[in-house]
Order: sequence, then C-alpha cells, then structure tokens
Amino acid sequence: MTRVFSGIQPTGNLHLGNYLGAIRNWVAMQDHYECVYCIVDLHAITVSQAPAALRDGMRDMTAALLASGVDPDRAVLFNQSRVPAHAELAWILMCTARVGWLNRMTQFKDKAGKDREGASVGLYTYPVLQAADILAYKATHVPVGDDQKQHLELARDIAIKFNADYAVNLFPIPEPVIGGTDAHGTARVMSLRDGTAKMSKSDPSDMSRINLTDDAEAIANKIKRAKTDPEPLPSEAAGLAGRPEARNLVGLYAALAGEKIADVLTRFGGQGFGTFKPALAELTVATLAPINTEYVHLRRDVASLDAVLAAGAVRANAIAAPILAEAQRAVGFIGV
Ligand code: TRP
Repeated sequence: MTRVFSGIQPTGNLHLGNYLGAIRNWVAMQDHYECVYCIVDLHAITVSQAPAALRDGMRDMTAALLASGVDPDRAVLFNQSRVPAHAELAWILMCTARVGWLNRMTQFKDKAGKDREGASVGLYTYPVLQAADILAYKATHVPVGDDQKQHLELARDIAIKFNADYAVNLFPIPEPVIGGTDAHGTARVMSLRDGTAKMSKSDPSDMSRINLTDDAEAIANKIKRAKTDPEPLPSEAAGLAGRPEARNLVGLYAALAGEKIADVLTRFGGQGFGTFKPALAELTVATLAPINTEYVHLRRDVASLDAVLAAGAVRANAIAAPILAEAQRAVGFIGV
C-alpha cells in the first residue's frame, strides 16, 4: 500500500521554488495515491511568530495550495495543531531519537545561527516532530524539496529504531520523493539574484524569488533583472558548469516546460539572455497566472478556507489516532 504524506510551513508566501520543488508533486500524486497534506503550524512556532501573522499565513497557504490544484476531496488537507497525534507521537519518538542524531542536523545549525543557546528547544527537536508527522500516518512516500533529505533520513532511522526497540513492525520506512527543477527532478530552484543560494521566502530581497502571488508584470520584471553572465547559452548541458545563474534559469525553463535541460539548450543554445529571458517570463506567467487568479478568489472567503481545514482535520485524525494508539500499546502505555 502507498500512502503519501507531506508538510509545508504556513509562513511566507508560496514561491516558485516550493511550487516546482514540492507542490507540483503533491498535485500529481493525489491522482494516484492516498495523500495527506499538512500545514505545519506546530513547526512554525519553533521560531517566534506573531499570532495574527500565523493565522493569516495559514489561510494564505491554504488558498495557495488549493489554487495550485490540491483537491481537498481527494487529498486530506489540514493543519497539524488540530490533530493531537502529531504532538503525542512526537513525544514518544523523542525518546527513540538520540541526541547525537539531532546534533548532526544541518538545518538546525543554519536556523539557529550563532545564537544556538538562544534557539528554542522546539527548533532543536523539529526533525523529530517531522518524523512523527510522517509516521502517524504510516506514510510510505514523502514528496519534499531536496533540502529535506536529511530530515527524511532521520525519520527513517527513528522508524527503524522504534520497530527494533519494541520488537514490532509498526512503522513502514518512508521513502523520500525529491522534487526539483528539471525533468529528472534533481536540481533546486535557486535565487534569481544568486545562483548558488536557494530560492527562499526568508531572503530579504523580493527580487530573488517569484511568488505565486506575483502578477505578470512583477514576474516579467524579476526575470528581466535576474542575475546572469554575459555569455550566450551553451548548446549542451555540460556548458552550464560554473555558470550557476544560467543553470538556474535554464533549469526553471525545463521544469516549467516539462522538458530536459538538454532539449531546452538544443533550442536556445547560442542565443543570449535577451532572447531567453522573455521566453522564460512568458512560460512562467502562463503557469502562474491561473494559480494567481484562483488564489485571489479563494483568499477572500476565509470561512470556506477554515472549513476545508476543519474537515481535513477530522479525516486526518481518523487515520492518525489508531496509529498513535498502536504506538502507545507498543511502549506499554495501554494494555494489549
Ligand atoms: N520541514 C518541512 C519543510 O520545511 C516541512 C514538514 C514538516 C514536512 N513536516 C513534514 C515535510 C513532514 C514532509 C513531511 O519543508
């Protein structure tokens, strides 16, 4: 049996990197598998959040996911804090995970920065909660961007150790499904200002990313002003080596067109960015414009958005509560 689980933070707008790296996979997978998609508000408060901004962010993300094509009649769509199994299973799994394992997590080091002593304990145990998210549904497949590989490895280690420690075969070992920018899903979407940095909602420059809520004019302007080098495009993928910005824009084109990088270069090789950028802008606008229109429409109806999440939470709880009970039985909290 296949069950897909994935999560996304409700902070900041959805951008092209999220869309191509993960959300597009979410939408594709709901046609074929049982899918559970979670807006991770428990994870969001591992760094400081103003309550009103968190509430807004939740509705922004719900509308953005629905506008991108997540269908709440097929996929289960909900927010994490409304399903108690996540926090309860996380506690149990915190007693399975080892301090040494968490000490190796690079995202904690990045997010905590220099002030590690001042980071929340929740930020440190973040990956254990993420493992609980996945295991509470006995998920087998987890579509994520490639920055989440290490957290997925940890979830696998936790599942293996839990099963071994309690001599049960409770948790399947979840497989990552890594999204990306080219037709093989291998590359990341990078910043438009720096081809070596990930496109990120926390980048202070809005010119570095294309938001799902950007209109056609903003998209065209950002691509026009995207950093490049003076060389024309190469006709083969090998020619992109050492040209991170060119690599990123060609990768974006390939991802949006559903083509291989090699095919894109067959067409654009030898041409300059003056020709390539308008073509990329047109393709980007064609992909995002319908999502944008739908987003604006959905975002106005807050009651409907909240109702979608509430209904999703009921369905999520129906799956997760019995699995949590199995874990509680395995550790000896409740009788067999
Ligand atoms: N940590 C993930 C991210 O920042 C979000 C997330 C939380 C998640 N729980 C998850 C992703 C479970 C996949 C599965 O992108």
